[in-house]
Amino acid sequence: MAAGCTAALLIALGVLSVCAGSGSGPVAEGATGEEAEWAEPWDGAVFRPPSALGAVGVARSPRTQLPRKEEAVDLPVLLWWSPGLFPHFPGDSERIECARGACVASQDRRVLGDSRTRALLFYGTDFRASEAPLPRLAHQSWALLHEESPLNNFLLSHGPGIRLFNLTATFSRHSDYPLPLQWLPGTAYLRQSAPPLQERAEWRRRGYAPLLYLQSHCDVPSDRDRYVRELMRYIPVDSYGKCLQNRELPTLRLQDTATATTEDPELFTFLSRYKFHLALENAICNDYMTEKLWRPMHLGAVPVYRGSPSVRDWMPNNHSIILIDDFESPQKLAEFIDFLDKNDEEYMKYLAYKQPGGITNQFLLDSLKHREWGVNDPLLPNYLNGFECFVCDHELARLAAKKAHVASPGVIPVPEPHIAQPSHMDCPVPKPGLGSVEEIPENDSTYGDYILMKPTQGPKLKRMRGEARDLSHHKCVAKLKAVSQIWGYSQTLLLLWFEHKA
Ligand SMILES: *[C@@H]1O[C@H](CO)[C@@H](O)[C@H](O)[C@H]1NC(C)=O
Ligand SMILES: *[C@@H]1O[C@H](CO)[C@@H](O)[C@H](O)[C@H]1NC(C)=O
Ligand SMILES: *[C@@H]1O[C@H](CO)[C@@H](O)[C@H](O)[C@H]1NC(C)=O
Repeated sequence: MAAGCTAALLIALGVLSVCAGSGSGPVAEGATGEEAEWAEPWDGAVFRPPSALGAVGVARSPRTQLPRKEEAVDLPVLLWWSPGLFPHFPGDSERIECARGACVASQDRRVLGDSRTRALLFYGTDFRASEAPLPRLAHQSWALLHEESPLNNFLLSHGPGIRLFNLTATFSRHSDYPLPLQWLPGTAYLRQSAPPLQERAEWRRRGYAPLLYLQSHCDVPSDRDRYVRELMRYIPVDSYGKCLQNRELPTLRLQDTATATTEDPELFTFLSRYKFHLALENAICNDYMTEKLWRPMHLGAVPVYRGSPSVRDWMPNNHSIILIDDFESPQKLAEFIDFLDKNDEEYMKYLAYKQPGGITNQFLLDSLKHREWGVNDPLLPNYLNGFECFVCDHELARLAAKKAHVASPGVIPVPEPHIAQPSHMDCPVPKPGLGSVEEIPENDSTYGDYILMKPTQGPKLKRMRGEARDLSHHKCVAKLKAVSQIWGYSQTLLLLWFEHKA
């Protein structure tokens, strides 16, 4: 994309964020930076990953002194543009030591125009084009950290959105600094032993359903509740969250979101009474896996999963979860769960990975072994610091390549630009949770808003393309204001408009 076009996109997106900001629910939700359900104690994790917005763990080389001027004079500067992320304390800048050498990390926006400022770091959930620093400087890389749900900022699931960046750290294995296992502390977490089956049989006799559902974020792109509602017709499901609720948590303490925390042992004991947990991610993207998947495995329950289409690649063995999409209908899935519920031997095969040597997936073992960051591990850097060093190393390499080129221009070519790819946020077009697009009523807001988020397909695309073609810039902005209550629609229309102009 030409620089001018990028700038235009950003300016218009800036206008969009202004329109959208004054609008409605979905936008405000995206802006909070966390999936709403995380506010619910029963739907949180046993741990929080070292979220960019949460407490920051131990830095690779914690220092309390600011770099002295003469010491820092030639070092590349990495500027954290998104506020509140700077993983150092105290002060506004700090020298960091990385594999290839040193850089200065800073959150002082006054260094933006400095020739030493080589990279800007953005947080995906917070990325608002209206706040992006323009004009973009040719010598600076833009680095994106976006490990959270793609629904927080669906713009980044679009080609023109993700290609604004040069370096990425996302949940995708294809990103430059991949974080697919950000919710998995390690193999010991998976190996924790399961409660005896007799205990669970006793809970079943006391009226518990075989399946647990715990979801309080109901209106999401994966449209999960539509599927679960249908499944409930064929097999009992105990549902405790706000979505499809049919039971209350057993104690007032657990019900009170103010007292029970996400790591509450009482909650985990309670959840482990269930043999199967419905585990559906809020958005369907390759390698987007969260605590919804790993928590049941930790507790010795079998996840009934829909989420990352490539989830099999990461499983401890090839027989540890039930994939919803392997079944032709909710009824067939219910029959299978019922069969396992009644056959202990078959059920226990799903927990074989907890036995010594039971984790046979070498790809998983290698990925855990080779990642340099830890999950709630005070001895390892968190991925915020890790990504920062990755960017530092990249910039040092880029400077060296440039220098080599300048020294012998005939021999060594200009370094190639490095641009992020759609595979770094690999989210297929949202589909209804059950049935086909044609069967979804026009007025269905649960799903309808999200289908519009993907500009390359979708039932309304053709009409929108026509609409976009007819818009002048001025009209486009007015139109966006008019429809700003529908986040997906505005974004899509805008991107189509740029596609037309480009
Ligand atoms: C699963 O793993 C077992 C043992 O490693 C192997 O015998 C079996 O063929 C595998 N099944 C599939 C479907 O890959
Ligand atoms: C960064 O990405 C932009 C496209 O978004 C590209 O024009 C630019 O050349 C890239 N810069 C580097 C240093 O790779
Ligand atoms: C959608 O339209 C159908 C048919 O006109 C109607 O029965 C239904 O109540 C509407 N649903 C909503 C959420 O407005």
